[in-house]
Amino acid sequence: MSASLPIRPRRLRSSEAIRRMVAESRLGPENLILPLFVQESGPDFDVPSMPGVKRGNIDSLLASCEDSVQAGLPAVALFPCLDPALKDAAGSAAFDEDGLIVRAIKAVKREFPNLLVAADVALDPFTDHGHDGLLTADGRDVANDESVEALCRLARIEAAAGADLVAPSDMMDGRVAAIRSALDSAGLQKTLILAYSAKFASAYYGPFREAVGSSQPGGRISKKTYQLNPANAREAVREALLDEAEGADLVMVKPAGPYLDVIRSVKEAVRIPVAAYQVSGEYAQIHAAARNGWLDLAAARDESLLAIRRAGADVILSYFALDFARASSLLTR
Ligand code: PBG
Repeated sequence: MSASLPIRPRRLRSSEAIRRMVAESRLGPENLILPLFVQESGPDFDVPSMPGVKRGNIDSLLASCEDSVQAGLPAVALFPCLDPALKDAAGSAAFDEDGLIVRAIKAVKREFPNLLVAADVALDPFTDHGHDGLLTADGRDVANDESVEALCRLARIEAAAGADLVAPSDMMDGRVAAIRSALDSAGLQKTLILAYSAKFASAYYGPFREAVGSSQPGGRISKKTYQLNPANAREAVREALLDEAEGADLVMVKPAGPYLDVIRSVKEAVRIPVAAYQVSGEYAQIHAAARNGWLDLAAARDESLLAIRRAGADVILSYFALDFARASSLLTR
């Protein structure tokens, strides 16, 4: 070995102990939120493109919440899957004070009072056209301000049912301020707002739409009229800053893995915690490769999550949350 090489970065990588000691990013169950799908009745439906992910009735949901608590997860995010017969253009079922999502929130909070529940605020599970908001009379656009009013109603119903966080995923303008004021005037000042601030118009949502049975929004309007263009990072920061100013408690970037630069920029711009959503397509692609024997499932899972954390996410929504938490409790035991 040459004696004249005093700077040898490999010294910091030479044993498991030193690598662990100087690790710059750490990820634990406390950083993760598990998304869960709930349906009214019937046997559990295994989502074909998302191995290990199912949609079940409220009892089945409670069993998943029990597993989450056991594994040390702090929170779950609930997504309802409605009977198509209940869907209409106005998303009326969203305002049913005894609807599926309301009963699901109440049941989870009754059984697991310390498990945080995040409730999605968007109309797509309830509309027959599959958009996150209401359409204009001529059907040519998603009507921003009318949609915001509807989203405020839904958020208030979810918060009153006991949701700890309401999570607007609709991307309408001005909805965070409107929801904050609607919650406050209903005496729901303690409910947090987890804003999907930088939600991109992404191909990676495909498997999710299968999981919740939401129509591929067709017709003349594209989700691109409200979700962000994947080309734009500065616009994503603008959206995050707006949501912070409007009173969001956390901002979110979604998807996560393909948008690590956006997570980093948002983290540097805001002073509130940043969440990132590792979406269905990100989960599906890792599973698909693992099924072919092309990737090691656990290693790719852990690396994908750690990369999102390293980019700056304080909190990660991931379908891997439970598997990761279980695996990490085996390590520290
Ligand atoms: C819609 C919503 C979507 C997801 C969460 N909420 C999809 C969409 O915009 O069509 C996607 C989550 C995932 O893919 O895992 N309100």
